[in-house]
Amino acid sequence: MIVELNNITKIYTDAEVPAVKDVSFGVQDGEILTLLGPSGCGKTTLLRVIAGLERPDSGEVIMQGKRMASNNCWVPPEDRGVGMVFQDYALFPHLSVRDNISFGLKNKNKAKNAEKVQEMIELVGLENHADKNPADLSGGQQQRVALARALVTDPILVLLDEPFSNLDMNLREKMRREVVRILRKSETPAVFVTHDQEEALSISDKIVVMNNGQLEQKGTPREIYESPIACFVATFVGQSNILHGVLGPKGENIETDLGTFTYNYQHNKQPGEDVIISIRPDGFELVEDGPIQGTIKEIAYKGGVVDLIIELTNKEFYQDLLVHIHPKYRVEVGDKVSFKLLPHFLTMIGECKPAI
Ligand SMILES: Nc1ncnc2c1ncn2[C@@H]1O[C@H](COP(=O)(O)OP(=O)(O)O)[C@@H](O)[C@H]1O
Ligand SMILES: [Mg+2]
Repeated sequence: MIVELNNITKIYTDAEVPAVKDVSFGVQDGEILTLLGPSGCGKTTLLRVIAGLERPDSGEVIMQGKRMASNNCWVPPEDRGVGMVFQDYALFPHLSVRDNISFGLKNKNKAKNAEKVQEMIELVGLENHADKNPADLSGGQQQRVALARALVTDPILVLLDEPFSNLDMNLREKMRREVVRILRKSETPAVFVTHDQEEALSISDKIVVMNNGQLEQKGTPREIYESPIACFVATFVGQSNILHGVLGPKGENIETDLGTFTYNYQHNKQPGEDVIISIRPDGFELVEDGPIQGTIKEIAYKGGVVDLIIELTNKEFYQDLLVHIHPKYRVEVGDKVSFKLLPHFLTMIGECKPAI
């Protein structure tokens, strides 16, 4: 493990509730991990705890097997070997790209430093801009400088706090791919912070979903999206249909108002128990004579996908369904349609209020 956080709690002076409460996760070598959650949920605090800019009130931070922070141990930020990229990049306006990048190098060997800086300039593709000042660069180029500056010291880990939020949509997508490419090429593990679900899903090896200072779920992007086990994850990371069900006699099936479905994941419920399930809107396939039947109540065309609100035909069903279909289907409000359910998109979740 590059970094391990064990039971981290952080309470700011005068705060009534902890900013971070009992959070544990690890970052493995070469891994890109994202902390995802709404504003104020404690993401930046956790990043600062890893960097050594905040001291946890309890719990421990371990890097490459060495203790960095615990109730009787403290290693300051400059001795942790961690690189940081801030939201506003924090570049020195009066220094050139080259000098911004070399700023953090402590090594006195000038020739070696110049070589390392040149290597970074090439890694981030700024060969033609090395002597310019930040003000003469685009937002994307400034970001590359910030990343090069974080990587030039060969950090064991790079921390990036909402690095794309100042870029407009098109550039953001491009820079995400670019930054991930550079991190992979330099084989540097990274922790990103973002409140953008799509961003987290697209750049990460692993996602840690946070809410109110607590860890809700950790997993691969696919696990987080297709198999949320926490209600918050089902409703914050994308959208979901939340339904009640009853576990069948052998514990392998779930009986719901939509029908009975096989359930292959591990769980600790007993046969006959009430359960709450989440079905992603992408978990339905439009088919003729499918088991789930209804009428289209609303349509929202979104380009790559079409959102449908379906009023179900099943007599006792009290809840409309949100379903995603491919835009190749030309449908209209009032059309009668039928679906089948794709198994991976149904999961059992914990206590849950219906989606907002
Ligand atoms: N320096 C600070 N002093 C007191 N409270 C803080 C400080 N920094 C953050 N907080 C509070 O801690 C909580 C978590 O903040 P933060 O880690 O910045 O969340 P996020 O990055 O997810 O938006 C928030 O309620 C915030 O107001
Ligand atoms: Mg923040």
